[in-house]
Amino acid sequence: MKEQKFDYGMIGLGTMGRNLVYNMSDHGYTVIGFDKNNSQVETLKKEAGNDKVSATSNLDEFLKALKTPKVIIMLVPAGKIVDEVINELKPFLSEDDLLMDCGNSHFTDTNKRNEQLEESAIHFMGVGISGGELGARHGPSIMPGGPKKVYERVAKMLEAVSAKVNKEPCVTWLGPGSAGHYVKMVHNGIEYGLMQLISEVYHLLKQCAGMNNDELHTVFSKWNEGELQSYLIEITADIFTQKDELTDSRIIDKILDSAKQNGTGTWTSEDAMSLQVPIPVIDIAVSMRDLSAYKKERQAVQKNMQGPETKFTGDKKELVKWVEQALYFSIITVYAQGMALLQSASEKYNYGLKLENIAAIWRGGCIIRASLLEEIRTAFSQQPDLSNLLLSDAFSKKLMQSQIGIRKAVQTAVESGVPVPAMMGALAYFDSYRSGWLPANLIQAQRDDFGAHTYERNDREGIFHTHWNQKK
Ligand code: 6PG
Repeated sequence: MKEQKFDYGMIGLGTMGRNLVYNMSDHGYTVIGFDKNNSQVETLKKEAGNDKVSATSNLDEFLKALKTPKVIIMLVPAGKIVDEVINELKPFLSEDDLLMDCGNSHFTDTNKRNEQLEESAIHFMGVGISGGELGARHGPSIMPGGPKKVYERVAKMLEAVSAKVNKEPCVTWLGPGSAGHYVKMVHNGIEYGLMQLISEVYHLLKQCAGMNNDELHTVFSKWNEGELQSYLIEITADIFTQKDELTDSRIIDKILDSAKQNGTGTWTSEDAMSLQVPIPVIDIAVSMRDLSAYKKERQAVQKNMQGPETKFTGDKKELVKWVEQALYFSIITVYAQGMALLQSASEKYNYGLKLENIAAIWRGGCIIRASLLEEIRTAFSQQPDLSNLLLSDAFSKKLMQSQIGIRKAVQTAVESGVPVPAMMGALAYFDSYRSGWLPANLIQAQRDDFGAHTYERNDREGIFHTHWNQKK
């Protein structure tokens, strides 16, 4: 009997890998999986239950079962495991074989791996995938980067397995090299910002308006029917009603308030700093995850540092309206900051990113999908080089219309001692960005005073230095 040859190989049969295999097989592709852990291999074989899918923990068997040139997808944890897998595979790969790293790899690692594999004419693609387990199974948003010609070899398959919005697949070639992983990193940075903002709103409504979980569920569900419609608002509404399996409480009230992270948000902030692109809401979101982890210190300080006693005594319905506007306003600034970073990075790293396409493939399948992305897409299709969404008429109008809400919400939070740093950051970003004049002249004066760093003037060209009256 002729041995079966598979269209694709999948390395890493954890939840994401397995679900992507099932998704591929649903679309008619044959896939063989490989995992060193035999129990993952068995799970895949048992769950798949058809001959389009197989799995093994024997690398030799895996490689021999693939059609040539081979196409191997890796869905393994980012970091040194990716290098280990590449090094193990490399001796058995030949010219024109293609390796696709679909994990959350750091874009600089993807650049190094590209160089390393180029020497042996093995093709490499860094591909971001978003949507978690369900996305992988039923249609994720896919962010591929690498040589365009190579992408074309797998485009049909990626389009088939991706999420669809109005029949348009949520995947497109984004750019060369590490473009895909860069875009996925910024996607995650935006994800951090949105999650922080939503959790601040939860804090505000719980503490100031005294809302219980059922009321919070109702508010978020209603918001999800309006301009805030998005995946994160939708799951948040449902989180409030989820029962705890161990007690009679809701699970939300039993989860420790200490946020973990795998680092992608931090990477976004780090790269934005190095490119000098301000993304303060994302930076704050990263810092707040870090601060939340200082649980013991926070508990110790709570005992002797009381804030204001003030409770919100106004109209709760009105507060909910302000907070809705505040969230919408802040969410716009997070997308604006992420998109501004992509625009700068595209130039710096020669990715040639088309922001219109990125907004389009984020409309479905991914964690940050939101109805707002359709409008973001329109803004970039009208002005592809837009350096900041705030410069578009449509978005400046939206911010102008919702600024009252955010000012009221922040004011209420400040008076009650509820921390809303990301929301404040969003408002301060807006107020700074719309300021034709900022007090940076004083910073320049100080720099010149203590360090003779010089300054430019606002009334004539040139570089100047003042002999300041320095104190001895
Ligand atoms: C996605 C998610 C996914 C993962 C994050 C979680 O797009 O599907 O972003 O990649 O859930 O990496 O990140 P943290 O563990 O850092 O919160």
